[in-house]
Amino acid sequence: MSYKQEYEKKKMSFKDAVKLVQNGDRIYIAGATNLSVPLTEELYNIKDELKDVSVLGFLVANDIKLLGRDCDHISYASTFLSGYERAAQKNGRIIDNFSFQLRNNRKTIKNNFDPTVLFVMATPMDDEGYFNLSLSPAEMDSLVNTARLTIVHVNDQMPHINTEENKIHISKVHAICEQSCPVATLPSAEPSELDNKVASYIVERIPNGACLQIGIGGIANAVGFSLVNHKNLGVYTEMYTECMYYLTKKGAIDNSQKKLHTGKSVLGFAMGSKEMYDFLHKNPDVISRPLEYTNDPYLVAQHDNFVSVNACLQVDMTGQVCSEAIGKTQFSGTGGQVDFVRGAQLSKGGMSFIAMHSTAEKKDGSRLSKIVMSHPEGSIITTGRTDVQYIVTEYGVAELQNKSRMQRAKEMIAIAHPDFRDELTHQAKKDGYL
Ligand code: COA
Repeated sequence: MSYKQEYEKKKMSFKDAVKLVQNGDRIYIAGATNLSVPLTEELYNIKDELKDVSVLGFLVANDIKLLGRDCDHISYASTFLSGYERAAQKNGRIIDNFSFQLRNNRKTIKNNFDPTVLFVMATPMDDEGYFNLSLSPAEMDSLVNTARLTIVHVNDQMPHINTEENKIHISKVHAICEQSCPVATLPSAEPSELDNKVASYIVERIPNGACLQIGIGGIANAVGFSLVNHKNLGVYTEMYTECMYYLTKKGAIDNSQKKLHTGKSVLGFAMGSKEMYDFLHKNPDVISRPLEYTNDPYLVAQHDNFVSVNACLQVDMTGQVCSEAIGKTQFSGTGGQVDFVRGAQLSKGGMSFIAMHSTAEKKDGSRLSKIVMSHPEGSIITTGRTDVQYIVTEYGVAELQNKSRMQRAKEMIAIAHPDFRDELTHQAKKDGYL
C-alpha cells in the first residue's frame, strides 16, 4: 500500500477519531501552537461517557472547554501553565503540575504520565510518509512508539520546520483528520520603559558573537529587541520567540560564531507572530531539535559566550529564585531556566541573567518588593542559590555567583526598590545576615 493509500484509509472525521478513546486512557494533547482544538472539542462532547480519563497539556494557547469545571471528572495536568490554564485553576479546576527541568520532558511524560493516546497537530504528510511536528513537537516523535492510539490533525497552515527527529511516520498513526485552521500566535507586547531599563543592564554586558537563549516574558523580550545593534549573534534556545526573528531580519543574528550548528538557529519550540511562522517555514537556516538536546547544559556549554536571559517573580536575600509560582500557587512552569542557567555558566565566557522588576503591584494598588528577606513558607524555588549568577532589576545587577551570605544580602539590597531598602536592611541585620 502506498503512503497516500494508507493516508486515505486512516482518514476520518474528528468525531469518529475521538470515539476511539476508551475509559482509562491517558491523553497527551500537546499544547502551545500544536494543540488541536477540534480534537479537544470532540473529547469534550463525549466527556460524560468517559470514566477515569486523564489529560496532559502544556502552555495551552486556546480557551478549550476541557478546562471547564463541567470536566472535573477528567483529571487535568500541565507541564507549564498558560494564561488559560491559570484562569481555569483560579476558577477552581484542579490542575496537577509536573515539575522538572525541561531537558527531561520526554522522560517525565513517558515515565510519569505514560500517554496511551496522543492528539497531534502537524503539517500535511510529505512524500516519505512523515508529518512534520512544526512549532511545538512536544516529544510526540518518541511517544508514538508506546501510545495505543495516535490521532493526527493535519493542518495545512502549520509551518514545516527542518528537523531530523521532530516528525512522525504514517505507519505509527491510527487516525487522520483534516482541518485548516490558523495557528495560535503569541502577541509580543511593546516592552515598557521599566522593561527596557532592566534590559539595558543585560544588553551592555552581552558581547558581539554571543549565543542566546532568551526566555518568556516582557523583560526577556525587551533584552532581545534591544540587541538590534549587536553583530554575529547566534541562537540555541528552547523557545524561539519574536525577538529572535526580528534580530535575524535586522542582521544581528547570523549564527556565524557558533561552534555547534554554525550558521543555523536551533530551537526546541516556537511561539510568535504569523510573520515569524512564515519565516520559519522550510527555512534552511533554522533547525528544530528535541528538548533533551536543546536544553542539555553540556551542549549549551559547547557554545562560547553563551548568554541565557530568563525572568522570575521573586528572589530572597540569599538568591533563591521563584520563577514559576507565587507562594504555593503554580503560575507557569519550571521550563528550562535551570538547564540554561547551568549551561551558560559552563560555557567559555558565558553568562546567566535572571531578571525582574524590583516591585509588583498588589490588588489594592500598593506595591510589594519582589526582593524579600525570606520567601513565604511553602514557596517553590525554581533556581537554587548555588546556581544563580546575575539577578537584574531596574536598579542594576546583583552578582551572586559563589558569594557569601553577607555579600549576597548587600548585593540584593542594592538592587531592591529604594522604598524597601531600609526595611530589608533592618530585617537582614535582625536575622544575622548583615
Ligand atoms: N508577588 C505577587 N505577584 C507577583 C510577583 C510577586 N512577587 N511578581 C509578579 N507578580 C505578578 C505581576 O504583577 C503580574 O501580575 P498581572 O498578570 O496581574 O499583571 C504577574 O505576576 C506576572 O508577572 P510578570 O513579571 O509580568 O511576568 P512575565 O510575563 O514577565 O513572566 C515569568 C515572568 C517569571 C512568570 C516567566 O518568565 C516564567 O514563567 N518563567 C518560568 C521559568 C522559565 O524562565 N523558563 C525558561 C524560559 S521558558
